[in-house]
Amino acid sequence: MSEGGANAIDEMFHGIELNNKIALDVGAGLGGVAFYLAKRYQTQVTGLEINPWLVEESTSRTPVDLSNKVNFMLYSDSAHLNFQTNHFDIIYSKGVLVHLENKSPLFKELYRILKPGGKLIINDWLSPVQEQWNNKVKELCESEGFAFYAVSPSNYSDLLQQAGFKHIQHQDKQAVYAQYNQSIADWLRNETNAELFKARFGSKAWEEALWGYQLIAASMQEGELLVSLFHAQK
Ligand SMILES: C[S@@+](CC[C@H](N)C(=O)[O-])C[C@H]1O[C@@H](n2cnc3c(N)ncnc32)[C@H](O)[C@@H]1O
Repeated sequence: MSEGGANAIDEMFHGIELNNKIALDVGAGLGGVAFYLAKRYQTQVTGLEINPWLVEESTSRTPVDLSNKVNFMLYSDSAHLNFQTNHFDIIYSKGVLVHLENKSPLFKELYRILKPGGKLIINDWLSPVQEQWNNKVKELCESEGFAFYAVSPSNYSDLLQQAGFKHIQHQDKQAVYAQYNQSIADWLRNETNAELFKARFGSKAWEEALWGYQLIAASMQEGELLVSLFHAQK
């Protein structure tokens, strides 16, 4: 569904009124969060993606009963989002913006298209040190070819504030996300699951997946990779 499944989504939106709200999902991926909110709360969700393949995939995976509640769109310019000012009740992003080097133009656009009083909810991977990753995260980026940009929680809050957001709240979530990733690694290690995975994706893919999840779990456990939850308001 999404990293951490339903528990992680429930925790991310704790205290947020979602029923029948209009929401934007920045980096919707395969649409797991959008489907969950639309089904459970009748939230009307637009999912934005920079990857055309994921827009097609999430659209084709949309359950028939949710087809009037969710839609997925491609975008390329985070400084210009094609939505009217004061449009959304809720804007959220889960596990995405670590990939975006310059977050300020996007945050300013998100502020513009959020209704006054609307909520911004971001779950992201951060670094304890601004512009610097520790060794495990560097190793992960090098081996997987990821471009992760290291932003510290206080710098992230500053960027949100500079975009206009107020009532910015920050919570550390890496302990629970370490458990989510550790449980995936444990699942992969289980003999039956390992055989199934290898039969479908090959032994090399299994080894890489296990190594990756184990490294992510360890980075989070040791505080080298932070998972931060921000709630803010326009
Ligand atoms: C780890 S996945 C998370 C997907 C989804 N949010 C979830 O929780 O299941 C990261 C996603 O972010 C997308 N992405 C990366 N950079 C992005 C950007 N600047 N704007 C929107 N999406 C982006 C990727 O294509 C990918 O689908």
